[in-house]
Amino acid sequence: MDIENLVLKNRSYRRFYQDERIDREQLVELVNLARLSASGSNKQALKFLIVNDPSDCDKVFPSTLWAGYLTNWDGPEKGEQPSAYIIILGDKEISKSFGVDHGIAAQSILLGATEKGYGGCMIGSIRREKLREDLNISSRFDILLIIAMGKPREKVVIDEVKDGDIEYWRDDEDIHHVPKRSLDDLIIDL
Ligand SMILES: Cc1cc2nc3c(=O)[nH]c(=O)nc-3n(C[C@H](O)[C@H](O)[C@H](O)COP(=O)(O)O)c2cc1C
Repeated sequence: MDIENLVLKNRSYRRFYQDERIDREQLVELVNLARLSASGSNKQALKFLIVNDPSDCDKVFPSTLWAGYLTNWDGPEKGEQPSAYIIILGDKEISKSFGVDHGIAAQSILLGATEKGYGGCMIGSIRREKLREDLNISSRFDILLIIAMGKPREKVVIDEVKDGDIEYWRDDEDIHHVPKRSLDDLIIDL
């Protein structure tokens, strides 16, 4: 897949075939993509918690918050929940701040997941204290981002932003629409 098609296919997916597991080996391959990615001052202070066992996934899911603009939807139901998570942690023994490293790592992981036929969603809205308790995550680590993953069970399309409205929405056929601003709106000339 060329880079444009890979990026196009790499949408945020929030409903999955929960029974389609992702084995640990594949998740380790995805973490390797993050390992090879850019890191501010090359500190490489991120750590990655791999979760794919169904009972462990059940411990992560309650700490995730989904699709704030879809106010009538509480997130994926049982059967449509992610079948794996990679939780990105910041190791405070290596650095006090993590800059944009976790965003870069997350994008590498999701592009890799897309190439493997999976999909996912970055989750920044996290019940952090609950997650720390439920997974027994040491205070040495900041909880930066969760990447929820699985075999996508929804269609996502890109629209143009109209009248400045950037909120994503779902139509009657349950297709998820993501408005993107035009290049003309993004590029500023000198
Ligand atoms: C840093 C970051 C945090 C995000 N956190 C959440 C989240 O907590 N819950 C969620 O449902 N989506 C979350 N998203 C997904 C965005 O809503 C999504 O990227 C946006 O709607 C555009 O859709 P697209 O990824 O398909 O282009 C997050 C995305 C980013 C980059």
